Amino acid sequence: MARLPVSLQSLLIQCAAAQAAALLIPLLPGSFHFTLSHLVFAQAGLAVTLSRAWRQPPWWQLLHLGFLPAVLLALQAGLPHTIYLLAFASSVLFYWSSFRTRVPLYLSGRKARRQLAALLPQRRRFRFIDLGSGLGGVPFYLESRFPKGRFYGTEIAPAPWFISRVRARLTGSRAVFMRNDYGRLDLARFDVVFAFLSPAAMPGLWHQAQTQMRSGTLFISLAFPVAGRPPDQCVAHDAGGRHTLYAWRM
Ligand SMILES: C[S@@+](CC[C@H](N)C(=O)[O-])C[C@H]1O[C@@H](n2cnc3c(N)ncnc32)[C@H](O)[C@@H]1O
Repeated sequence: MARLPVSLQSLLIQCAAAQAAALLIPLLPGSFHFTLSHLVFAQAGLAVTLSRAWRQPPWWQLLHLGFLPAVLLALQAGLPHTIYLLAFASSVLFYWSSFRTRVPLYLSGRKARRQLAALLPQRRRFRFIDLGSGLGGVPFYLESRFPKGRFYGTEIAPAPWFISRVRARLTGSRAVFMRNDYGRLDLARFDVVFAFLSPAAMPGLWHQAQTQMRSGTLFISLAFPVAGRPPDQCVAHDAGGRHTLYAWRM
């Protein structure tokens, strides 16, 4: 059960919380003036409790808290149906196969990018790739600081990839953004491989890195270590937290 993808866990939690909230209604005193909003907020509270009990990451608890109330507000606002279609289409374009990869889009911060820059060679030519490059922020940030580097990104979801291509075109960047699953790339082409993905992606990625990367090249993961493989270098302002960089010399 604990191995279910977090999205499926969340679906179960939402349904169970709705069911439990509905079961509570007959227990209310007859004098209580019950409304749909009461049901929705009871469901949200129960969903958060279940999410905590299942030890989901904190941001999922926020999503559980807001999900049904947001649906209720949207229904009450009487928004045109095309809004829902657009919202659905844009979430598909941005989150594409996160259901399969278990890696959603969220962006690394400036602090992490600064720490990442400190790990890169200043005087040598090198080829760097961001696996799952999102909106392209990491290659753009590094490109201006490392004239000897060549920067690449690969992204599976169409919308972030498209945005990074447009940004590169508008800014005259030389960074190259591919729309590809990193699993299909040969990492031997790169001197530095960077990833900010998720715990679920790390075992497979580590296996790929070990199989393909050349000896002496650098593999860096932001926020997610590799189980049973202590890094050669660990850079952190908040130990074990979101800004921790784990680096392995292959
Ligand atoms: C957490 S975001 C990181 C974005 C960016 N690297 C950054 O640091 O701001 C992870 C990205 O990886 C992408 N992704 C997940 N699995 C992928 C795969 N197999 N191949 C390419 N991209 C993938 C997701 O679509 C998402 O945009």
